[in-house]
Amino acid sequence: MWEKPRPEEEILAELEKALAKDYHFSGGRVISSMCTQPLEIAKRAHAMFIESNLGNAGLYPGSLSLETQVISAIGELLGGKGIAGGIVSGGTEANITALWMARNITGKKKVVFPKSAHFSFHKACDILAMEPVMVGLGDDYTIDIDEAARKADRDTAAVVGIAGTTELGAVDDIRSLSEATPDGVFLHVDAAFGGFVLPFLRKLGHAVPDFDFSIPGVSSLAVDPHKMGMSTVPSGALLVRDREWFRRIHKEAPYLDTLGQLSALSGTRCSAAVAATYAAMGSLGTEGYVRMVGECMEVTRHALSRARKLGIEPVIEPVMNILCLKVDDPCGIQKKLDAKGWKVSVAQNPASLRLVIMPHVTRESVDSLFAELECIMEGK
Ligand SMILES: Cc1ncc(COP(=O)(O)O)c(C=O)c1O
Repeated sequence: MWEKPRPEEEILAELEKALAKDYHFSGGRVISSMCTQPLEIAKRAHAMFIESNLGNAGLYPGSLSLETQVISAIGELLGGKGIAGGIVSGGTEANITALWMARNITGKKKVVFPKSAHFSFHKACDILAMEPVMVGLGDDYTIDIDEAARKADRDTAAVVGIAGTTELGAVDDIRSLSEATPDGVFLHVDAAFGGFVLPFLRKLGHAVPDFDFSIPGVSSLAVDPHKMGMSTVPSGALLVRDREWFRRIHKEAPYLDTLGQLSALSGTRCSAAVAATYAAMGSLGTEGYVRMVGECMEVTRHALSRARKLGIEPVIEPVMNILCLKVDDPCGIQKKLDAKGWKVSVAQNPASLRLVIMPHVTRESVDSLFAELECIMEGK
């Protein structure tokens, strides 16, 4: 720790220097992240609530009322009425909390989830001493329903389906998964990425199967405003069908003004994320999200057509704005692109070059990326 106070300009200059080393979304060269530039109004809202803490909700009734409205709005977007929930730090916390609830409600330990699930489910099992039971994927890289049905038994706490897998953006058949889930077993859907994409794709006329609370068997959903919701980091949401379930993870905190406080994994909880999500959802409205998702899909299709011109095929036809390309040596290509200032990622299953076409990725940046890719493939 520094002994003496230091001049503010010096500190700020150091911060500027560090910030300059970070990659930024402006410029459209980061094509690997599931986050994007938050809306300006979301940033302003975040700054307004910078000192508020929903972990001590009795002091922040204003923040609490915004959270209630935000959860109700996301719940409605995802086919629910009277849905309970809270804003948490992201998909990881939402998934861990959902499994924590499932374990305490059922008293069971097994968690049945697809091989395509985000690594947060392995973290959750580790922390909660639960037993991961992995299910294979079909040809379309969604969960094998028959195998899930065989593996979900009386010792199962929760079955998990993914509405928008991290690597490919594939959407599990949640209705069939619900039918395969025994009574009394929790069905959690991880829509961390897809939650702010699929409802709008449906409005654009895409054939989007039900994946949310419109299916009566769905117990809970994770959805991240800090991904396609255009809010600030750290904004995740956990939505659950029954408010009472939060009691099963409740712990007394007599020193806090916790009246009405959500029982969450975090203690101190970021009201700024709630305000930013409220601002993003209010200022875009359904129409704004439909337009934005439509633009991302249009750029994704453009990227696919550029890939095909180079003779490269996708692993699956993109369901949403994630495109995985079958190339030889994806890691080698990723390294060469990295050296030119591009950030793309590599999917493991199957090994492929993964592009996440977020709102900051434009047609022009895709054109420049493919020009670079063409040079790399020709060994130039
Ligand atoms: C499907 C899915 N679930 C959960 C997560 C974890 O979200 P976070 O990084 O916000 O904790 C991600 C992150 O990419 C994801 O894609």
